[in-house]
Amino acid sequence: MILVTGASGTLGRPVTRRLAEAGADVHALSRRAREPESGVIWHRGDLVTGEGIEDAIAGVETIVHCASDPLRAKRDLTAARRLIGAARGQGAPHLVYISIVGVDKIPYRYYRIKHAVERMIEDSGLPYTILRATQFHTLPDAVFNALTKVPGLMLLPGGLRDQPVDAGEVAERLADLALGAGPERRVGDMGGPEVLTVEEMMRDYLEARGLRRPVRVPVPFPGRAGRGFREGHHLAPDRAVGKRTWRQFLDETHTHR
Ligand SMILES: NC(=O)c1ccc[n+]([C@@H]2O[C@H](COP(=O)([O-])OP(=O)(O)OC[C@H]3O[C@@H](n4cnc5c(N)ncnc54)[C@H](OP(=O)(O)O)[C@@H]3O)[C@@H](O)[C@H]2O)c1
Repeated sequence: MILVTGASGTLGRPVTRRLAEAGADVHALSRRAREPESGVIWHRGDLVTGEGIEDAIAGVETIVHCASDPLRAKRDLTAARRLIGAARGQGAPHLVYISIVGVDKIPYRYYRIKHAVERMIEDSGLPYTILRATQFHTLPDAVFNALTKVPGLMLLPGGLRDQPVDAGEVAERLADLALGAGPERRVGDMGGPEVLTVEEMMRDYLEARGLRRPVRVPVPFPGRAGRGFREGHHLAPDRAVGKRTWRQFLDETHTHR
């Protein structure tokens, strides 16, 4: 019996699907009522208020924690505290957590909070497995999409690279970890197949969408967090285990080409 938090999200959806396909007894958490789905039992609950969490967690052997609220990131700490507290009261299930490469090195607010959640899980006394991944393709895709909405020059941060990874491949790995023999503590990072500059990524993006827009680089990415990203601490070139490339993602997502 496995509970997936954040099961309606970019990562949670394919995790939930893969677990159901593997024949697990899958329970899924969302703050909203969801349509019934074959192989998945949806629970309505909010990790920040705690509403519905005891019921959702009752009897689970494994929790895959994908819920997050990056725009109100501090809430992730409350959410993790509640989840850990509820899990402790339910026979200490295996807690599988998805984190981000570089959370311990880049002093970006969301990353600091993700790192604090990692430490809470490590100190929780629960059996746990933590996987760090690089950015999903959908993240730069959404950022570039937002930039195209601003008229005129598209400004990009200079000296920045990324190693986007397919959320479906990360979901597959997380599902395997949840179905595996047991807790593995920190497992090897998961990065996409190639490291690209943001200029290269933007060029491919515009081409895939059939857009012609003037792009200007570099705009400095300020502060210590900016330096951390410029130094590439969010990359995992020696763990380039993902298969689907940025261009494949774009070709399959945007219909222009
Ligand atoms: N996106 C990336 O590039 C990336 C890369 C590496 C790691 N990660 C990590 O992967 C995880 C999932 O990311 P994602 O991109 O799939 O996020 P997402 O699409 O925004 O999904 C997050 C989910 O969290 C749920 N949620 C938020 N607040 C909640 C609360 N108080 N109680 C219960 N559920 C709550 C939401 O579900 P409802 O609205 O249905 O309640 C939402 O579907 C995050 O931990 C993120 O840090 C992401």
